[in-house]
Amino acid sequence: MPLNIADPEIRAQRTHNLAQVDPEVAHILRKEQTRQEQNLELIASENITSRAIREVVGSVMTDKYAEGYPGRRYYGGCEFYDEVETLAIGRVKQLYGAAWANVQPHSGAQANMGVYFTILKPGDTMMAMNLSHGGHLTHGSPVNFTGMMYTIVPYGVREDNELIDYDAVAELAERHKPKLIVCGATSYPRRIEFARFRQIADAVGAVLMCDMAHPAGLIAADEYPNPVPHCHVVTSTTHKTLRGPRGGMILSNDEELGAKIDKTVFPGIQGGPLMHQVAAKAVCFHEASQPSFKNYAKQVRSNADAMAEALTSEGFRCVSGGTDSHLVLVDLRPFSMTGKAAEKLLDRVGITTNKNTIPYDPEKPFVTSGLRIGTPAVTTRGMKQDEMRQIAALIAETLRCKDDEPALEKIHAKVRSLTAAFPVHDI
Ligand SMILES: Cc1ncc(COP(=O)(O)O)c(C=O)c1O
Repeated sequence: MPLNIADPEIRAQRTHNLAQVDPEVAHILRKEQTRQEQNLELIASENITSRAIREVVGSVMTDKYAEGYPGRRYYGGCEFYDEVETLAIGRVKQLYGAAWANVQPHSGAQANMGVYFTILKPGDTMMAMNLSHGGHLTHGSPVNFTGMMYTIVPYGVREDNELIDYDAVAELAERHKPKLIVCGATSYPRRIEFARFRQIADAVGAVLMCDMAHPAGLIAADEYPNPVPHCHVVTSTTHKTLRGPRGGMILSNDEELGAKIDKTVFPGIQGGPLMHQVAAKAVCFHEASQPSFKNYAKQVRSNADAMAEALTSEGFRCVSGGTDSHLVLVDLRPFSMTGKAAEKLLDRVGITTNKNTIPYDPEKPFVTSGLRIGTPAVTTRGMKQDEMRQIAALIAETLRCKDDEPALEKIHAKVRSLTAAFPVHDI
């Protein structure tokens, strides 16, 4: 049946594809696709979604308002939105062994806001990891709402072993009596002792929250400890190691606390949920429960170990001596280079990384002495330990050849031939 729309321009918009409707944006998309194909993506917080997830994100589920929760919506016609959100909630509860879940936060930052606004009043004290030791912006940065609204007590890692100083965390908690303690980080390569954090929180009557945004996929596959049994509440993103659409979620075993957080997320801080993202989260949780995802997460870990080992033999110093996760934090000082300079140089040869402060960094946060390197995206392309060793060698070679244009051009060609052997999309 042809469309019954008289206006030829509107009719064309209903039937034509992106390249026909908006060649300018279509061209930008093609360039981004080529960038993804040709570059080595080593940003620890990024991944490559499946075709099924991208199909849902670009689907009819983007069209409708569904304010409220399944069975309790403020709009009619939400029966299929109820169905898919209920499916997502059930799947994520099963995946992490949680009694309650909210899958509506638009992002990780909003998942954290949902918990903070439930537990804390302005001026209250919360403890979280020092940003320069691995914490996230939403863990108390002075330029973030957390730093502006709450009294932040940061904790960090020991200078000698670069591991969280749990005794110092306990002492700080005893001294400052925080209402909330946040564990979880954005650039901490090691395991976190959640049970130890819970002892510390219980000793001072604090609520314990874990922000598991980074290792969420490894946790789903039992490749990293699960914080859910130890914490009052757990927040996450769905788009890092979990390999889902961009978005956030909150889990808990305390259903009473969960009901309060539901009210904070909607109507407290969000309006209509992004239901195309919620539907894609349902697909993500399904994918993450499959045996193939377990194999994937295992390979992400093996690749991170191989990367840490190879970078060490190339002359880098890995913060804390290695990794228990999907990321390696390298100290560039043995190469007499800053993170800012290294990131730019590596971009030049098609290797995408990000500068990162290292604990007790002498450089400013916009310059840094470190580089954060993650294995989730290259593992999704099918790369294994051998390729990690090649990448480590290419990184070292790039930093050594910093002013040698012909040498950098040769490295870029090697990056191109390595990425060509592991296509991102099956087209
Ligand atoms: C630990 C942690 N929490 C929260 C976030 C924020 O997630 P989003 O960018 O989706 O707001 C990030 C993002 O990098 C993160 O690393």
